[in-house]
Amino acid sequence: MTRVRRSVLFMPGDSLKKITKAATQLAVDCVVMDLEDGVALDRKEEARQTVLEAGKTLDFGSREKWIRINPTSTSWWQDDLAETIEARPNAYVIPKVESAQDLQQICDWLTQAEKERGWEPSSIELVGIIETAKGVLCLPQIVAATDRLSAMMFGSEDLAGDMGAIRTPEGWEVFYARSAVVTAAAAYRIDAIDTIFADFNDPEGLQKEATVARQMGYSGKIAIHPRQVPILNDAFSPTEAEIEHATKLIAAHDANQAAGTGAFAYEGKMVDMPMIRSAQKILAQAQATGQRNQDSSSE
Ligand code: COA
Ligand code: MG
Repeated sequence: MTRVRRSVLFMPGDSLKKITKAATQLAVDCVVMDLEDGVALDRKEEARQTVLEAGKTLDFGSREKWIRINPTSTSWWQDDLAETIEARPNAYVIPKVESAQDLQQICDWLTQAEKERGWEPSSIELVGIIETAKGVLCLPQIVAATDRLSAMMFGSEDLAGDMGAIRTPEGWEVFYARSAVVTAAAAYRIDAIDTIFADFNDPEGLQKEATVARQMGYSGKIAIHPRQVPILNDAFSPTEAEIEHATKLIAAHDANQAAGTGAFAYEGKMVDMPMIRSAQKILAQAQATGQRNQDSSSE
């Protein structure tokens, strides 16, 4: 099943107001309650309690409930898990992942927790953030680390800091990593979620960056402000023109197959299986976003 993860909104875990707004009012696909860098050092404990309370009591509707913990290199991650597990998140988001072991130790902890509670094994998913040079180098091991991994996220700001790179609007300084993350995710058929766009008063800039991310294969992008959410939902949904084109292409393909033809010409261009597979993907996305009915793919 194609999942819709276009807008992934972060908010500080100690802000019940922002969590409530995201979980109950905003049209976000994923709500990420943060315990890491969005929370002041002296508010970590308070944030855990707020996240627990919000996670247990609010109705998130169809939105995914995610919690970002602190990295496994800190002394906080186990308490982050222990004190929020009863919120029963759909996934934990793990920052600064640098090795398969980073994820495996969290898996071990979750396996035990699920067992103790009689919850379905491996029902809690993981999302790993690649945002250090070492994380980029170790991507092949990291994506293969566990079946719990359901998405990879790219973090450009921490990465630039780690590399001593200077951020530019074009982003060429982090392009290798941005491309590596989406490629690794594709290899394991999991989602890739693109980095933040910090200027929440620049809708055109965000739209442009999101369009490139979608062209690269990203399924969505991090949002840090409600204003960014509709822009991302739109940028990562197939356009009407794409859906119509895909529908026609598949009909033409079906007719050619029935006539015993593989590759064929359509509107002056050669069409064969790779284009048909992308067309099928567009239709699956259109169904997942509700832009088309479940049974309209054979129109
Ligand atoms: N999630 C949910 N609601 C949010 C939000 C977010 N990330 N950011 C802002 N809001 C809400 C505000 O509470 C406010 O709600 P109201 O109109 O009901 O009162 C409304 O959206 C407008 O917010 P605004 O006043 O423009 O922004 P702000 O000054 O309150 O906050 C930031 C600005 C940057 C501090 C805030 O957007 C934020 O906390 N972003 C996420 C930061 C984060 O998590 N960083 C770490 C991960 S990258
Ligand atoms: Mg970070």
